Amino acid sequence: MTQLPQSLHELQAIFDRWAQTIQKIKSHNERIAFICAELPTLSLDHRLLKKILAEIVKGKRYPDVRQATMFSNEFILYINNQRLFSARLYIYEPKQYTPIHDHNSWGVYGCVSKKIEVIRYRRQDDETRRGYARLQESERVYLEPGDTSVVQPLNEGIHQAGNPAAGTCVMLSIYGSPIRRLYVNEYDHMRNRVRRRYPPRLAKKRLATQALDTMEGIEG
Ligand SMILES: [Fe+2]
Repeated sequence: MTQLPQSLHELQAIFDRWAQTIQKIKSHNERIAFICAELPTLSLDHRLLKKILAEIVKGKRYPDVRQATMFSNEFILYINNQRLFSARLYIYEPKQYTPIHDHNSWGVYGCVSKKIEVIRYRRQDDETRRGYARLQESERVYLEPGDTSVVQPLNEGIHQAGNPAAGTCVMLSIYGSPIRRLYVNEYDHMRNRVRRRYPPRLAKKRLATQALDTMEGIEG
């Protein structure tokens, strides 16, 4: 999706400008540095962010709340048609955290309101046991409005993010071009478990495939 509603032309102008620049930058680290420099201005533009939130409340077609997302508190704002980057808004209720997970691309998290906590983990096992993962917490970062935090793809970026305080908080995240992996890993730190989390549409297809397999041979 590249075209936003006319009423949000200022947001469209920002994403178009970012896409033009990112296209010219080849290295991931420089793309990350560009977004780190740009994101604070957008995440501190509370007038624009409140406009987006008001559109959700009013049930407008953009942002489309029916769009399937990996997490239920995730709102897709923009997906570049060349997959150069995507922009997503996250709304966390007090003490709400994502599960521990990794990503298929780099990400830059920007705090819009209240406080965001990002907890990073390092994988300790050799990944030879299916379903098993041992993690060690490596860092805790607290973001205030305008602050950013970088998440690297795959094992380099295992993390969870959430709201450490009272009051609903908002995070605006930008993600780079995804690598070709159809799932993300989701970790249970306490039980040393890892499982694959598929995007909702694919997860449903996989379930139906499994059901068909079990019904093979049953007459119908
Ligand atoms: Fe994440």
